[in-house]
Amino acid sequence: MSGLSESGDAEGLSSSIKGEIIRGLNEDLAREYKAIIQYVVFSSSLKGAEYGNIAEQLEKHASDELDHALKIAKQIDYLGGTPTTKGKEAENSENSKEMLEIDLRAEQETIKNYRERIRQAEQAGEYALSEILRGIIAQEQDHEIDLKDALGLR
Ligand SMILES: [Fe+2]
Ligand SMILES: [Fe+2]
Repeated sequence: MSGLSESGDAEGLSSSIKGEIIRGLNEDLAREYKAIIQYVVFSSSLKGAEYGNIAEQLEKHASDELDHALKIAKQIDYLGGTPTTKGKEAENSENSKEMLEIDLRAEQETIKNYRERIRQAEQAGEYALSEILRGIIAQEQDHEIDLKDALGLR
């Protein structure tokens, strides 16, 4: 299970990292599907004047996450993998503050995972992929900031 070819050469090593990246990207894709569902639902059901225009921001997040899902699925296909059709299970709440906390935790988990994926992509010499992931992670960090602002955490 070392993933090395018999001679232990670099090609064997890089194809094993590629498999790991594909598996990781499919987990990322499943998290993007979950994020789309949560942002669609929460942007329409979030209540309370104190949350001002955050509902509008969540709507924008939903379309960013769709864009991320499309980009990740393309990269999985490009690497020779099959994009998953299964999302991580979306969470829900009746409470607006809890909705924002659910989203914030999800963004933080997502950012942590994309950091790991960028590290793997660079290790494998997949620089085009790491560029794309850097673009995505920058948007996830903006989402995190929006949610922290709305929750008064900044
Ligand atoms: Fe995303
Ligand atoms: Fe996000």
